[in-house]
Parts: sequence; structure tokens; C-alpha cells
Amino acid sequence: MSDDALIAAARDAASHAYAPYSKFYVGAALRFSDGSIVTGSNVENASYGLTLCAETVAVGKALSEPWRGALEAVAVFGGPVSDDGTVPGTDPPVTPCGRCRQMLNELAQLGGSDPAVLCIGSGDSIETSLSALLPHAFGPASLA
Ligand code: THU
Repeated sequence: MSDDALIAAARDAASHAYAPYSKFYVGAALRFSDGSIVTGSNVENASYGLTLCAETVAVGKALSEPWRGALEAVAVFGGPVSDDGTVPGTDPPVTPCGRCRQMLNELAQLGGSDPAVLCIGSGDSIETSLSALLPHAFGPASLA
């Protein structure tokens, strides 16, 4: 499975965001070692603070389904939605918030991986790793 397919999945997920309050649509796509992809988009709430980010929704979906292997790569895409319903993206790109980095780390540590994180914008993308975004992470291994 190519990064192009992963990025396309994140873009498509952004179009399914439920973000009527911020109108900031985000999509995340997770690729696992079995080749499968799990997506998520942000889910807001009339009680604003209950909002779930796209990455957190994707992690929740993946952890509530049968094991797919190590988390290999994550793509994130998002930005303000246009009047015509499209999401052009932002420059610089959206990067996972702090809570989402921690949520992704849970899944990564379970499979013993350090996934690539691809942050896709309207201009240049950022290609990094989860360990770079969340160094010295606390996770399941820390409780052993
Ligand atoms: N958001 C995400 O979905 N992921 C992030 O990493 C950053 C922020 C969402 C939350 C909220 O619905 C909207 O973007 C504006 O903050």
C-alpha cells in the first residue's frame, strides 16, 4: 500500500468530518503492517470541549477492531472547509495535537513500531515520525 493511497484516504476522511462549530475538517488515516487502512475524522459536539480529533477517532476505531499488526504510517490532512464543501488544506499542514500524539503512541507501542507521520497541506508536506513528535513517550511499556 503506497503513501499516495494513505494520503488519499486521509483527504477523503476529512470530507466526512462532523465539525459544524469550527468548520475545520480533519481526516486521519492509519496504515498497518497487514496493509489495511483505518480512517477517522473529527467529531465535534454542541458541548464544545467533548470534541474528538480525527486521529483519536481513527485510533479508537482501530483498537476496537481485530488486530491489524504494527502501525506503520499515519497521514493527517485538514483545514477550513470551503463554502462548496471542499477542504483545500493549510500551509503549514495540520499536525497531530498533543493528545492525539499520545493516542497514536498507545497503538504504536502495542505493535512495537515508530510510525511515519505524514502531515499533508496545501503546499509542502511534513514527513516526520511519531517518536520525533512525542519523544520519551509514556505508554503501555512504561507500566510493565
Ligand atoms: N483537530 C483534529 O481533528 N486533529 C488535530 O490534530 C488538531 C485539531 C480538530 C479538532 C476540532 O474539531 C478542529 O480540528 C479545530 O480545532
